[in-house]
Amino acid sequence: MLSVNAIVLGFISCTPQQKDSGETSPFTLEEQAHLNYMLIQPSEPIEADATNMYRNNPDAISLGELLFSATDLSKNGEISCASCHQYENHFTDALAQSTGLEITKRSAPTLIGLQRQRWFNWDGSCDSAWCQAIGPLEKDGEMGSSRVAISHVISEKYKHEYESIFGPLPNDIDSWPDSGKPSVEGWSDLSEEVQIESTRIMVNIAKSIDAFEYTLSPPQRRFDEFLDLYKSDHQQAYDSLTSIERHGLDLFLNEGRCVLCHSGSTLSNGEFHNIGLGERTWLEPLDIGRYDGIDMLRVNEFNSAGQWSDEPDGIKSNRISRLNQKTEQLGQFKTPTLREVSHTGPYMHGGHFETLEEVLQYYVNLNEEPVHGHRDETLQPLAWSSEDIDAILSFLQMTSE
Ligand code: HEC
Ligand code: HEC
Repeated sequence: MLSVNAIVLGFISCTPQQKDSGETSPFTLEEQAHLNYMLIQPSEPIEADATNMYRNNPDAISLGELLFSATDLSKNGEISCASCHQYENHFTDALAQSTGLEITKRSAPTLIGLQRQRWFNWDGSCDSAWCQAIGPLEKDGEMGSSRVAISHVISEKYKHEYESIFGPLPNDIDSWPDSGKPSVEGWSDLSEEVQIESTRIMVNIAKSIDAFEYTLSPPQRRFDEFLDLYKSDHQQAYDSLTSIERHGLDLFLNEGRCVLCHSGSTLSNGEFHNIGLGERTWLEPLDIGRYDGIDMLRVNEFNSAGQWSDEPDGIKSNRISRLNQKTEQLGQFKTPTLREVSHTGPYMHGGHFETLEEVLQYYVNLNEEPVHGHRDETLQPLAWSSEDIDAILSFLQMTSE
């Protein structure tokens, strides 16, 4: 884990020195490095991303917001993005496995802090939010629609909004068949024009949904108040914590090593780790996470390097060409954000734990046999008392209340 530390410590050296850092700070230099890295706004994009040229377009954002809750984009007319990413549930659905037309194999992550993700889905099978949005629209078990069916809905119900952003829709959509997508028989019989134009419409609406998702800022929580104080006065920030929160923060930053993966303002490094979770009767044993995700990303026609990207030869597409598949990726999943975490259970990629207490018991004991690969060696059993666990829990509550 030296490399993670090096990145975090490297970061401190290029930020302006804190007024109160050094000898007078109640935080060690290493703790300050982690805290300084958390100061970046959670809503600040992690890097420039020109693969979606509509990202900051206000009309695209409004259309995206409308479509995020539009059930008419699903095959049965009953499911939208917001069915599984519910506003009232912190953009998740309180299920171990999300359910659309069928039960899916994973738990819906919150969309909070999405701007600071580099890879999307638990396995990183997409490298942009617009690539990601296309998945549920067409997947049989989720919304189950198709690009041709979606084109009809857009033409019938959202024509005006769509055309004001993306220009005229093809004028012969009425003569297209009712539905069609590459995974269903009959696609290759469609004319090239229908194939390309229906794909373009679906990509455009995915880009407008992406633009909307980028406006979802995490709510201001006690954790942000603490960081605000820390910016100007370390001692005042320290004093603002209760003694139990202080102890929790200490365990999070030091002995628990949580911050090595749950780093930065969203408390996620956005990378993939195998934390060694064992089998669950309700989960597919063949879910190997990141290892498969890399293959899926490479062949995804909607990745950043593809023809639908607005910057097919930028930073993001270069990154795809540098990805290597390695056996250590077996069983790795993306580190989730810990913002709003008190409200986003059940936890882990397959809803392995109902409560945060259970998650903490797991990190303390590590008493499961990994289904795939081996557990990241950063994780070692912790000799924590129930007071220590309570302290971490009260620290985590600060990100959620
Ligand atoms: C049936 C429930 C369901 C529906 C409907 C659904 N999602 Fe999801 N969403 C999930 C699940 C489950 C995952 C995790 C998928 C995975 O890892 O393979 C996910 C992952 C995501 C992610 C990745 C977040 C991250 O941090 O990696 C985004 C973004 C997202 N969904 C947005 C959307 C949008 C936009 C729509 C509508 C077009 C949508 N979802 C529809 C269940 C759903
Ligand atoms: C080696 C990296 C790593 C370390 C260290 C680590 N985590 Fe995690 N954490 C992850 C990953 C990866 C997941 C998701 C695992 C999965 O679903 O397979 C996760 C999941 C979680 C979740 C569930 C969140 C959700 O929304 O599902 C919580 C809570 C959590 N970690 C807290 C902690 C705490 C507290 C510590 C320190 C005691 C810690 N983590 C240490 C990588 C790490």
